Amino acid sequence: MSGPREIPEGGRVEPGGLDVAFRLNGRDVVAHGVAPMERLLDVLRDRLGWTGTKEGCGEGECGACTVLLDGLPVVSCLLPACQVEGRDVMTVEGLAGQESMSVLQREFLEAGGTQCGMCTPGILLTARALLDENPAPSRHEIRTALAGNLCRCTGYQKIIDGVERAAEVEGRGRGGSDAG
Ligand code: FES
Ligand code: FES
Repeated sequence: MSGPREIPEGGRVEPGGLDVAFRLNGRDVVAHGVAPMERLLDVLRDRLGWTGTKEGCGEGECGACTVLLDGLPVVSCLLPACQVEGRDVMTVEGLAGQESMSVLQREFLEAGGTQCGMCTPGILLTARALLDENPAPSRHEIRTALAGNLCRCTGYQKIIDGVERAAEVEGRGRGGSDAG
């Protein structure tokens, strides 16, 4: 074989794999030597060392591995990493500011929305996408948005409470728009 060959979604084929360049939590990164069907989950955790993203089922059913791709939730256990070439990925590590937890993380914690924590990164990112699109969701809308994120520990009420609290605090921070 001579020289690189084209593949969908970009990336350069090298004898040892692909170089996949993308934006991760606000930084430009390149993952080297990525196999064509290597999962984004593994690239994040094993190649780049961002271990906040968790693996639950590994089959696209539990939502534990959720990350945001261009602002929308995706399950990273089913996504070939080469498909994020040139795109924007956020993991749970990208939620917090420089100094501390985000409002969403803090309110989630204070509501008791996390126990073992396995589902928490995925739930937080799904909730972030919801609040970015709908800053004042009803409890029903929160439940619907989180339907693909399974939790074995909390019974969900406190998870819903945490997202609801975050919406209220963020709403006050934006200048008091009523979260009806
Ligand atoms: Fe990806 Fe369960 S680990 S959906
Ligand atoms: Fe344990 Fe959700 S806190 S799975």
